[in-house]
Amino acid sequence: MYSVELRGVTKRYPGGGAEPVVALDDVGFAVEPGEFVAVVGPSGSGKSTLLNVLGLLDDPTAGQRLLDGTDVTDLSVAERTAARKRSIGFVFQDFHLLPTLTAVENVALPTAFDPGDASDRAADLLTRFGLGDRLDHEPSELSGGQKQRVAIARSLINEPAVLLADEPTGNLDTETGESILAEFERVKEEGVAVVAVTHDPLVKEYADRVVELTDGVLVGGVPAGDETPPETARGAEAAAAGDR
Ligand SMILES: Nc1ncnc2c1ncn2[C@@H]1O[C@H](COP(=O)(O)OP(=O)(O)O)[C@@H](O)[C@H]1O
Ligand SMILES: [Mg+2]
Repeated sequence: MYSVELRGVTKRYPGGGAEPVVALDDVGFAVEPGEFVAVVGPSGSGKSTLLNVLGLLDDPTAGQRLLDGTDVTDLSVAERTAARKRSIGFVFQDFHLLPTLTAVENVALPTAFDPGDASDRAADLLTRFGLGDRLDHEPSELSGGQKQRVAIARSLINEPAVLLADEPTGNLDTETGESILAEFERVKEEGVAVVAVTHDPLVKEYADRVVELTDGVLVGGVPAGDETPPETARGAEAAAAGDR
């Protein structure tokens, strides 16, 4: 079973009177547990839209979306929030750190309970990312690369099944970038499905598979030799079994 899967997903944005923008055009995409996929493509090709739809931050206009084999195409706001919290880590391109919280508080933020334990784990994660001496710094006191590492640490605090990252090495020097990618590799070996949108050739080196988006059309979205047509019974069965 795939950790995350899109079947025939189209995403259209209203064009304000003009033609609607087709940001994703009949996309089939699937990531196995423990697989690291890099998504490349020019600016405007739909990369962020793809991540947002995968991460339940945005809904497809058409098609099906599955998380761990369960259909999550349309969810209520409450269901969506719960599923995101349970299953998804998201690293935003512009970090989305809260300016009045310290590094350790930002990382612990997605945890709903046991704040004491959460700040210990947040401190451990930050230490692993080389920020053990920056735990109590606020974002304004951190460099771009340091903020990026805080954002990545925060994405891992709930031990997600799926890790989605928009240009995760965009602000990092090569050495720091490599340490982040090594961390992604470790996370992946624990069975997490990792998807990174990137222009960085280094990310492509670490990825198991590189897929390309052009004008919303994705090539190579499903693991080789594993192509399933959109209407297989598998997703319907899983959804019917209600195994969420
Ligand atoms: N909220 C939105 N409303 C209207 N059009 C959008 C919106 N978000 C993205 N788009 C359009 O969808 C296309 C894909 O955008 P995006 O996913 O951000 O691409 P990328 O991340 O590859 O640069 C672009 O043409 C963009 O202008
Ligand atoms: Mg983008």
